[in-house]
Amino acid sequence: MEFTLNEEQQMLQKTVRDFATKEILPLIKRHEPRHEFPHALIPQMAEMGLLGVCIPVRYGGAGFDYISLGIVSEALEWADSSVRETLAVHVGLNSMALFQWGTEKQKQKYLVPQSQGEKLACFGLTEPDTGSDVAGLKSKAKREGDVYFLSGEKTWITLADVADHFLIFAKTDLSAGNKGISAFIVERDFSGVQTGTLEGKLGVWASNTGWIRLDNTEVPLENRLGEEGEGFKIAMSCLDNARYSVAAGAMGIVRYCLDASVAYATERTTFGKPIGQHQLVQQLIAKMAQSLMVGRLLTAKIGWLKNQGIRNTLETSMAKWYNTEAAFSAASDAIQIHGAYGYSTEYGLERHLRNSKGAVIYEGTSQIHQVTQAQYALGYRIDKPLRCELPAYDAEYWQEEVSLAFPTFLC
Ligand code: CAA
Repeated sequence: MEFTLNEEQQMLQKTVRDFATKEILPLIKRHEPRHEFPHALIPQMAEMGLLGVCIPVRYGGAGFDYISLGIVSEALEWADSSVRETLAVHVGLNSMALFQWGTEKQKQKYLVPQSQGEKLACFGLTEPDTGSDVAGLKSKAKREGDVYFLSGEKTWITLADVADHFLIFAKTDLSAGNKGISAFIVERDFSGVQTGTLEGKLGVWASNTGWIRLDNTEVPLENRLGEEGEGFKIAMSCLDNARYSVAAGAMGIVRYCLDASVAYATERTTFGKPIGQHQLVQQLIAKMAQSLMVGRLLTAKIGWLKNQGIRNTLETSMAKWYNTEAAFSAASDAIQIHGAYGYSTEYGLERHLRNSKGAVIYEGTSQIHQVTQAQYALGYRIDKPLRCELPAYDAEYWQEEVSLAFPTFLC
């Protein structure tokens, strides 16, 4: 069992933490109150390889392993959830799915520019009437020869109004439940595509959250991801990747809150001593320290499982549930420790509180994950092998510059 980061991972962690401190935080402080997406960060993140962090170099990525996706997620969310959301959606919900399920042609056409950060990508699953119960989605895809016509509406979509590529889930068979869903790669300039931004969110003000409407959108057959009817499993496998980024990111919030609380509790005095010496304050700090360690262990295990090519749906669901709840509690407790100062915008804690509530809801509510965990524990849920599993990390393959013959373990 290995609990240390290798040299490459340590370097990545330091670089992204510096970036978060020097570039992201100051920029977010300006953009967030104005509800503006920080477009200026995208080329910088692309330059650093973050938009394709765990994608092989041959597909435009940086060639890091899956543990590195967790490291980057935590480092980014320390500054602001919106930036980590971009990573979780663009890489976790979209690019990793193209890598796992895409044809070589789809990888070359869509994955390469996404990994290089030339194109941004999002994930269109949720609909106005369908959130937790994915199988109930209503968008339709009708095939005519070598073309599908897609119609429907997606909502609460991160990056909807800024992404170039959308991974859209629609029903190809209305009577087949979750087996009637298929996945499609849709470009912004395909016919009948409209997007907009949703206003009035509690948090993640610097992230773009919007809707996508498809009106008889013509999508070529070659843009179907996976087989017809495989969409539900593809969507769930995407969520296995993005929920890992969400869970790891949540630890960035806990770290921020713990560090701020320790600094404040050491300086601020009441009743003749630093508040850190009062046991009720210590209790709040101890809880944050505990959740930071437990949450990091959970996500480190997922990174390791992914590197081995081992299915991690149970662990990812557990971590998403635990870590996002821990971040929300940490933000609330840190505000309590800071008193009125915590309630103000001065320390950035109220922003983390507003942002962390979102993560308890999106990518599977805590209630969905509790049901999932109960089903695993009771033996009602048993994972079956997929036609295309996420490939195990192989440093030589991931970092190889020259395009080789297409390996058979990739579909
Ligand atoms: N990977 C691959 N296959 C999976 C899978 C996974 N993680 N999970 C389930 N499957 C397979 C199952 O093995 C099963 O296959 P068979 O039919 O061959 O047996 C099939 O899919 C159906 O699985 P379930 O019976 O578990 O399906 P269900 O209808 O009971 O749903 C659920 C399960 C857990 C409730 C699921 O619907 C779910 O996770 N809901 C939450 C949805 C969610 O997270 N939405 C967030 C949207 S994204 C977002 O928020 C985007 C954003 O921009 C921020």
